[in-house]
Amino acid sequence: MSHLIAPSILSANFANLQADIELINNSEADWFHVDVMDGVFVPNISFGFPVIKAISKFAKKPLDVHLMIVEPDRYAQAFKDAGAGSLSVHIEACPHLHRSIQNIKNLGMKAGVAINPHTPVHMLEDIIADLDLVCMMSVNPGFGGQKFIQNTFEKVRQLHALILRQGSKALIEIDGGVDLNNYQELLHCGANVLVAGNTVFGSPNPSETISLLKKG
Ligand code: DX5
Ligand code: ZN
Repeated sequence: MSHLIAPSILSANFANLQADIELINNSEADWFHVDVMDGVFVPNISFGFPVIKAISKFAKKPLDVHLMIVEPDRYAQAFKDAGAGSLSVHIEACPHLHRSIQNIKNLGMKAGVAINPHTPVHMLEDIIADLDLVCMMSVNPGFGGQKFIQNTFEKVRQLHALILRQGSKALIEIDGGVDLNNYQELLHCGANVLVAGNTVFGSPNPSETISLLKKG
């Protein structure tokens, strides 16, 4: 399978979201990456259900929702209803991760786990077989446009090996600071999905930038 591109809506123009949704619809992008922040798990607040429902109404590609919130289980059904195709919860926010993942799957969504830069890959050993997606943070979550953390390359290699070892079907998604200088090495290390916010929406021609990231 060739790799997937998931532009992050966090860097889109909120004053004219529909235009940026259409841009993604008409590009080679595969998913919409939708970042939800609660101001508790991360030091920032993004947006909630009304905005996600509005995106869902116009999006012609799956919504990949990344929850940076505490107690995500409370809202899994609501995210399904808002149009989420996949839902990722943070391992650092879930004391009963296995239950959280089964709940997401039972609701009919793809289930993902996001891990912060300081969280070792081996923490996923007993859950990787149940996952559709691992969202590996390559910046500290909370803001777009941050600098890529170099240690991510080694973590992607480790995660790729863990997935092979256990025969898991989980995709490796890289989130934060992905740009035209590092994406090829990320793919080489085993990444399957590239999230890009600033690199796409901060470029003069977002659609062309998506095509470049898609070529690999
Ligand atoms: C960060 C978010 C990312 C962010 C990526 O907390 O999870 O998805 O939007 O933005 P860039 O690509 O600009 O680092
Ligand atoms: Zn994200």
